[in-house]
Formats: sequence, structure tokens, C-alpha cells
Amino acid sequence: MKILGIETSCDDTAICFAEVQGELEHDFKFRILGNAQQSQVVHTLYGGVFPNLAKREHARNLVPMLEVALRNTKGSGKAGEIAASKEDLRNILARESGLFELLIQFLEKNARPEIDAIAVTVGPGLEPALWTGINFAKALCAAWSVPIIGVNHMEGHFLVSLLEKRDEEFQISNFKFPMLGLLISGGHTELVLSREWMKYEIIGETRDDAVGEAFDKVARMLGLPYPGGPHISALAEEARKNQLGSGNIKLPRPMLHSGDLDFSFAGLKTAVKKIVDANQPLTDDIKRIIAREFEDTVAEVLLRKTLEAVETHSIETVVLGGGVSANIHIRRIFTEALAKEGVLCLISEKNFTTDNAVMIALAGYFRARKGEFTASVDLVASGSLALS
Ligand code: KG4
Ligand code: ZN
Repeated sequence: MKILGIETSCDDTAICFAEVQGELEHDFKFRILGNAQQSQVVHTLYGGVFPNLAKREHARNLVPMLEVALRNTKGSGKAGEIAASKEDLRNILARESGLFELLIQFLEKNARPEIDAIAVTVGPGLEPALWTGINFAKALCAAWSVPIIGVNHMEGHFLVSLLEKRDEEFQISNFKFPMLGLLISGGHTELVLSREWMKYEIIGETRDDAVGEAFDKVARMLGLPYPGGPHISALAEEARKNQLGSGNIKLPRPMLHSGDLDFSFAGLKTAVKKIVDANQPLTDDIKRIIAREFEDTVAEVLLRKTLEAVETHSIETVVLGGGVSANIHIRRIFTEALAKEGVLCLISEKNFTTDNAVMIALAGYFRARKGEFTASVDLVASGSLALS
């Protein structure tokens, strides 16, 4: 099956064209034919993501991403042969400024690729941004006459962590149920229990800020650019390398004794703010120390809650996904601690941690194998879609 994945849930515009075959238990192979991803830099100016700005950027970026994703694919048939009328396409894209014109130009230049399905993120995420991807997918499905599949973004983050690279292809072979996913990103912090393939139960989540959001806010307090996670991580690593101790800079470990698997990071952010205010002007070393103490705290809380869940639910495999799982320190301590417990720990490849369309094509494939296509008209954005 050749499948196109489209992702626009937040501030990354991404499209992946993949060829996938087999069942999970039998001869499964995933091959990326083309992959494109663009992070919207405009948001760095504001230190956060504005939904309508993101939407406009998606409308501008989608066709260029499609061109890149299909660059190595030969079309079949003639350029300009499309299965829908221009009027229909214009109606589908009525709310996506400038996208109809870009798409028509593309369709007139390029023949239809050999393609079996289009998968698109329907939630969770920023609804205006999600709609742009969904409407684009609907228009392409009409133009190429292919079926459409709606994908849960968080399922994408979960499943992509299972991919193992073998030469030019990916396989999935190495996991056991029950699985526990720790999904940590700019919008989510969730512990997800999976006892059966593609069935999920959220057993813990943040009561306020997401981990990535906390990284971004603390980075801002330290004068670092958005998104802040990678910058905090770099400073924290410098502190570790230079053995900068934390001295009297100590942060509370929130929610460790809450008796459940929930998280809370809003108080931690306030605690960092107090330390920042008390240490003005911040020297580079103090910034490194704060970054390290913050990262240690977050990593420790995430790990302790994960280990609690592992014990309670007799977990065999832990899966780490989402933007924050790119964090070196978190990857390191999870790998070490879970190895000690004899629990398999799967963390997605670095390029698949932040939002991408590989994960959407992958989740879309498995949903398609279950026959879960949606009538194009019924596909809607669902900002707070939960895993189930
Ligand atoms: O999954 P993602 O790309 O988008 C959402 O769905 O939110 O995650 C983005 C988040 C941002 O908050 C960013 O600061 C964080 O992931 N992030 C990191 C690192 N790389 C990205 N946080 C900590 N350490 C990193 N190395
Ligand atoms: Zn994400």
C-alpha cells in the first residue's frame, strides 16, 4: 500500500509518502519514499504558537511539502487529469487562503502518483491548523480519487517509537504487551496503557502544563529562543560536563506523592521564576545550573511515575514518544532505569520525536488495514481528541 501522511496539528507542516506492506505479525515493512517537514519559524518571534498564524503558514507550506515528498515518485497518467471539478476543489479549500491556487498549479504540472490512501491528523491539536491539513487531504482525495483516513496524532507518536531501522526499511518486531507509552510534547504529557494492538487507556496525565510547555516557559525566563527544550538541554549538558553543582538552587519534585499517575508542572515553573528573580543578573553559569536542576527535576518525576505505572500494570514494554523524548538526559535515564527493571524501552529515532508525517502515514496504514476509512465529508478536526 502506498500512503500519503499529512500532519498540521501544531506548528510543523509535514508530508510523508510511504510504501507499507504486511501485517504486524507477518512480513511488515515500512519504507519512506519521500518525506518533508517544515517548522514554522514565525512563532519564534512570539515565543509561542498562534493558531491562526499557524493555519496561514500551513496553507502556504503544504504544496511545497507535497512537492518534496513526491519528488522521487513517478506519476501515472497525464498531468492535469483530475477526478474532481475545479469548482469542487475550490469549495473544499474555501477557508484555506491561497491553497486552492497552489494546489491547482501543482495538479496541472504533476501526474497523479500511484497511491492507495491518504492519512491525515484529525486531532488533538490546534483546530484551525488541523482543518488546513484535513481540507487539503480532502481536496487531494477528490482530485486523485483515493480514500481518506483520519489519524490521532498521539497514536502516531506512540507507534512511530516501535519502528526499527533495517537498511533502507523499517520493521516492527520487538515489543510485548502490556505496553506503556509516555507521550511528552508541547501539548501533552500522558501515560498511556496499551494491552492490545491499537487500543489505549490514558492512566495518567498532566493537570496543567505539558512538559514541553514547561521547557519552553523556563527557556523563556532564561532568555533562550523558542522552542526552548533543545536549548535547556544543551545548557544542562554543559552543567553536567563542567560538574556545576546546584548549590542552593533546588526545585521541588511535584506530584511524587500524589498517589496517582498524574503530573503537574505549573508550580515548578513558578518555582523556577522565583529562583530566576533572586539571581539577577543571571550569569551563564547560573543559567546552566538552573537548566540542569529543572531538567533533572522533570526527568526524575517522569521516570518515577513511569516506574510506578510499570509496577502497577506489570508492563513489559515502555514506549517514549513526542517532542520532549528527543531530550538526551531523559533518553539516558529511561534507558538505564528500565534496563535495570528488565523492561524493554523503545524510544523513537531522533528525527521522529518531534511532529512529523512519517508517524501519520504509519498509524494511517494500520487503521487502513482495519478498514477504518471515513467518508470525506465526515472528517472533522477534533482539538481535544483523546486516545482510546
Ligand atoms: O511533539 P512536538 O514536536 O509538538 C507537539 O505536539 O507539541 O513537541 C514540541 C515540544 C516543544 O515544547 C519543545 O521544546 C520540546 O518538544 N522539545 C524538547 C527537546 N526537543 C524538543 N524538550 C526537551 N528537550 C529536547 N531536546
Ligand atoms: Zn506532537
